[in-house]
Amino acid sequence: MKINKAIFPVAGLGTRFLPATKAQPKEMLPVVDKPLIQYAVEEAYAAGIRQMIFVNGRNKRAIPDHFDTAYELEAELAAANKRELLETVHSIKPDDMECIYIRQPKALGLGHAVLCAQCVVVNEPFAVLLADDLMVGKPPILKQMVDQYAEWRASILAVQEVPPEHTKRYGIVAGTPVNDRMMDLTHIVEKPAPADAPSLLGVAGRYILNPGIFREIANLPRGVGGEIQLTDGIASLMRREKVFAYRYDGKRYDCGSKEGFLEANVELALAHPQLGAGFREYLKGLSL
Ligand code: UTP
Repeated sequence: MKINKAIFPVAGLGTRFLPATKAQPKEMLPVVDKPLIQYAVEEAYAAGIRQMIFVNGRNKRAIPDHFDTAYELEAELAAANKRELLETVHSIKPDDMECIYIRQPKALGLGHAVLCAQCVVVNEPFAVLLADDLMVGKPPILKQMVDQYAEWRASILAVQEVPPEHTKRYGIVAGTPVNDRMMDLTHIVEKPAPADAPSLLGVAGRYILNPGIFREIANLPRGVGGEIQLTDGIASLMRREKVFAYRYDGKRYDCGSKEGFLEANVELALAHPQLGAGFREYLKGLSL
């Protein structure tokens, strides 16, 4: 079964990034020259996905605008013969990509945001990408996971090792390794204290889920923080079918936090084909 659809939950309040996120979505914060949401959409596109489903909340109009046609801007660029910039603007939404917008009426949690997209996904496996986790890998992380899905045909969560003092920030998993990257899961807990964590493997913001997850989420009580947690839905799903964790090959920047966002900007600027060399010289010149 091919993965055709990706859900981008973008209805969170982004409180860790205030004041920047008071009137604009954190997913529109730019890392170097692109907003976070564009990195995530490009990752899904590179994994062969063409239907992008955004679960929006208040103050998120900038996201549909970003993926919409900007007639005035395009006309100005065309008139000024700025072909490269025109191409940059066009490439944000390739012609074969479809964008679908759904509203989450209240920020009731990530699980609830995913459930809001059920009416579009219905009965096929799908990806979930949290755009504030900027993931860099070759091949891109979601492509790695789609390839694993083709082999295992079960829900897959991206995981990475986290420091013991950070278990409270993640869903933490444990299970039985089936090879050096895949693990057949037996446990998943949302934001445990270090003493209660079943391992140090934390879930990063990339998932491939079978549609059975919707029924599990719909029957959940509120979890940690009074929110309807995707992690709790996955824990229920694990009682009915196999769920795997995949230790991805690449790097994640937690751009929902100010520190992670700064790290992403520095490292991606250094790797940027046009800006990298000059930026490296600039950093060397700082007397730190
Ligand atoms: P986070 O907890 O990182 O996002 O949720 P947040 O709530 O926006 O951020 P803070 O903690 O207040 O700073 C992970 C993802 O789930 C989405 C967020 O937009 C983010 O992409 N989300 C979260 C929703 O779409 N709806 C929700 O009700 C909660």
